[in-house]
Amino acid sequence: MSDKKRIGIMTTGGDCSGLNTVIQRLVSAADSRDWSVIGIRGGTDGLYCTPADAVELTPENMPLEFARLSGSILRNGRDGTMNFEEASRQGILKEFNTKLNSALKELNLDTLVLVGGNGSLSLAWGFKEIYSGVKLVCVPKTIDMDVPLTDATIGFNTAVQQLTNFCDQLLLTARSHRRWFVVQAMGRDCGKLALEAGVASGASAILIPEIKFDVTSLIEHIKNAPTDYGVIVVSEGVSLRGHSGKAAEMIARQLSAAGIYCRAEYPEHFQRAGDTTATDRIVAASMADCAVRAIENNETYVMTAMQNGKCRTIALAEFFSHGDLVPDPHIPGIETSNAYVEPDDPLLGVATGLGAYVGEIK
Ligand code: F6P
Repeated sequence: MSDKKRIGIMTTGGDCSGLNTVIQRLVSAADSRDWSVIGIRGGTDGLYCTPADAVELTPENMPLEFARLSGSILRNGRDGTMNFEEASRQGILKEFNTKLNSALKELNLDTLVLVGGNGSLSLAWGFKEIYSGVKLVCVPKTIDMDVPLTDATIGFNTAVQQLTNFCDQLLLTARSHRRWFVVQAMGRDCGKLALEAGVASGASAILIPEIKFDVTSLIEHIKNAPTDYGVIVVSEGVSLRGHSGKAAEMIARQLSAAGIYCRAEYPEHFQRAGDTTATDRIVAASMADCAVRAIENNETYVMTAMQNGKCRTIALAEFFSHGDLVPDPHIPGIETSNAYVEPDDPLLGVATGLGAYVGEIK
């Protein structure tokens, strides 16, 4: 029997830098094994099309020089088109999943490499019927760093670098005008991106959803800071009891009311852009290599995970059971497996040791 394999790959959920690295490395590894790679365009959008929106990827149409570029050559799907949330809203989830399953069967793949965040991985666990008839290898990517059991996700390091660059540049104008900038980091309910970029840029305060903070202490901290300007990094998931609106705006309002001259700033999707950092390329390359070995070993329902500098596969069941399970807000009966900043994260100690306010930690 020939061991020439036919591999599918698709990128789902929010994009991030590093997706093209993992695609390109997989294409080049497959080429050296004489396997073929089918890229599914637009994530589940493309799979839902008739026929599925798929293209053969080769070293000619996916050359090395594309590997450092942000975004995904395959695209990740578009708001407002048919996806799990929309199918659930229309009450046609069963039909939607059946369609995805037959599309995968028609593509005649040995293995699908699903490059996604904790939402996509949790959906793969919750809707196993979609992948009957194909082996599934998941590769975690996200700027949120909220995937359990892996020390790295593709895209996180580049997002930290982008956000750090943003804060660095603001600091110069902050000094000129003796202003404070409250910078809102992405990350959903996980404060890891805010924490790392905050430490990297020397932020005077870092507020994340996992750590309670006190507005009066924050105000005192800024008023007593050694400078009359600086950056405060606030995670988008931070809330303030009795207040509504964007996290940075809420904090900036409190500071302004206390006489601190400040502005709220939103780097938004700039955090998902930028040429992929060397660290993220190494993570993506390690995960592509690990995925190829998983395919050779006929593994299925696994996720690649960086642990202590090494990439290995873990069962998707482990990914799911190790996270904090939160109900999906749009899809009844589906839970998402999340990771958060732990209270003993060493960076919290580094930040406080260097004089930043990170909330009411002991
Ligand atoms: O999950 C990645 C992420 O960038 C989050 O950090 C952010 O909250 C969200 O996606 C933004 O999504 P959208 O691009 O749909 O606005």
